[in-house]
Amino acid sequence: MRSAFIFVLSLSACAVVREPSSAEEKYFMTEVKPVFEQHCLRCHNGSLPKPALNLSSKATAFQRTAKGESCLVPGHPDKSLLITAVQRGGTHAKMMPRTDLSLTEDQIGELREWIEDGAFWPEGDQGVLKAVKGPEGF
Ligand code: HEC
Repeated sequence: MRSAFIFVLSLSACAVVREPSSAEEKYFMTEVKPVFEQHCLRCHNGSLPKPALNLSSKATAFQRTAKGESCLVPGHPDKSLLITAVQRGGTHAKMMPRTDLSLTEDQIGELREWIEDGAFWPEGDQGVLKAVKGPEGF
């Protein structure tokens, strides 16, 4: 009896490891990570002169820019430089020559919602981002 109970417990522990453990993690994996990987990582991967935004990991993504501004301010999309940039405000439009990498209104809305809800970014492999060729193509 007792060993059967332990067996069931360890099965559910495995399920937790494989499935996203929270709604926030699922949102990051399905709505945020693919957008950054297909539209931003080609440039924001650590190869731009420092201290340019580097979206390849949680630790680098939350660092401040040269002007001391924060690209991601959890809870405050309007204070987040990342939102200003994707809405093509400021000087980012000129720095990004490829307009076909622009985000749709829906994608911007999802990023706003993600930041509003705390900008959850998972630790470990799931939180490591690499450039991915998207449907738009790089
Ligand atoms: C073709 C290259 C390229 C792509 C693709 C790109 N950027 Fe940039 N971006 C730059 C360069 C160059 C800068 C200037 C260096 C810096 O300040 O990071 C910049 C600056 C920024 C800044 C700082 C803006 C400022 O006004 O100081 C943010 C935030 C940013 N990018 C976000 C993004 C996001 C989010 C994406 C994806 C949706 C993206 N970028 C895609 C090249 C790119």
